[in-house]
Amino acid sequence: SNLDALYRQVIMDHYKKPRNRGLLEDGSHTINMNNPTCGDRIQLTFKVEDGIVKDVGFEGEGCSISMSSASMMTQAIKGKKVEEAIRLSKIFSDMIQGKDYDDEVDLGDIEALQGVSKFPARIKCATLAWKAMEKGLNEEEQQ
Ligand code: FES
Ligand code: FES
Repeated sequence: SNLDALYRQVIMDHYKKPRNRGLLEDGSHTINMNNPTCGDRIQLTFKVEDGIVKDVGFEGEGCSISMSSASMMTQAIKGKKVEEAIRLSKIFSDMIQGKDYDDEVDLGDIEALQGVSKFPARIKCATLAWKAMEKGLNEEEQQ
């Protein structure tokens, strides 16, 4: 459908022109995470101040789904409160698994990945960056 085509375009745009690519020089510790099924990996750094994600950067190697999802994730959480970022991760996880999700929140480009729910093998690709983000922000809060 046209919507699928539009979504594909959004995904490829993030893949070809990733947002927030590159690790921050003044960021937190680096979070490393990989997808054990394929070995694709992601690295993340954040700058969190007053409970707000002021900046975030990523590096990684992986398929177009994992890398575009990482780009979308950084775009979506930048400027948000830590708890909002984590909440968004839960919504994303529900959406990607084909569950009912909270659609009151503006998901922006992230919605383009909802078709992944039809391809269970790809769910881990799409959630890799989000899992890394949750882990990193949780660790950040404990410091
Ligand atoms: Fe199509 Fe990863 S790019 S599945
Ligand atoms: Fe490895 Fe998608 S195939 S993350």
